[in-house]
Amino acid sequence: MDAFELLTTRSSMPRLVAPGPTPAQLDFMFAAASRAPDHMMLQPYRMIVFANEQLAQLGEIFAQAAQQRGDAETQVQRAKELPARAPLVIAVAMKYQAHEKVPRDEQFACAACATLLLQQAAFAQGLGAIWRTGWFANDEGVKQALGLTAQDAILGFLYVGTPVVDTPIKPNKDMANIIHYWGL
Ligand SMILES: Cc1cc2nc3c(=O)[nH]c(=O)nc-3n(C[C@H](O)[C@H](O)[C@H](O)COP(=O)(O)O)c2cc1C
Repeated sequence: MDAFELLTTRSSMPRLVAPGPTPAQLDFMFAAASRAPDHMMLQPYRMIVFANEQLAQLGEIFAQAAQQRGDAETQVQRAKELPARAPLVIAVAMKYQAHEKVPRDEQFACAACATLLLQQAAFAQGLGAIWRTGWFANDEGVKQALGLTAQDAILGFLYVGTPVVDTPIKPNKDMANIIHYWGL
């Protein structure tokens, strides 16, 4: 896949199976993510990788959070199983650093760009990936379990694996509502 195709066809894939990314494929994804535009080079993002038995541990973290907020047992069980939807999950967080020139929103935006780049780099290598959040991403218990503070934020969980079928490429968007050439 060349860069033009990558940049104009990226699509998400929710149906993911083994094999997950190889260590080399993962390294390529992290290299891409580290190219996110980064005001003052703070690198305000962290990527926590879950594979194999660690996926079950992430499931336990989700289930515990569901239990804490009083969810029914069926929902607690479902929360436990969510990370098993892919062979590998990357939790992406914004690790906030107080900085006089870089407000929190900019650090969040940088981490969001890094998340997209992770997905782009997965897609470019023939892998499938989908960016998911759910309420877990905003749960303080989940944040704490992942070693984050109240100041930090979870951008989401990138589920990565082999697409069950070739990732369907979504149709092009209607740009008329999106783009306005000022003065025309
Ligand atoms: C911040 C963020 C959170 C998202 N959370 C979810 C989610 O929890 N569940 C889900 O199915 N899709 C979620 N999505 C949407 C998918 O990642 C995906 O973008 C969407 O299905 C459209 O497909 P596309 O990426 O191929 O255009 C989220 C997207 C973003 C940017």
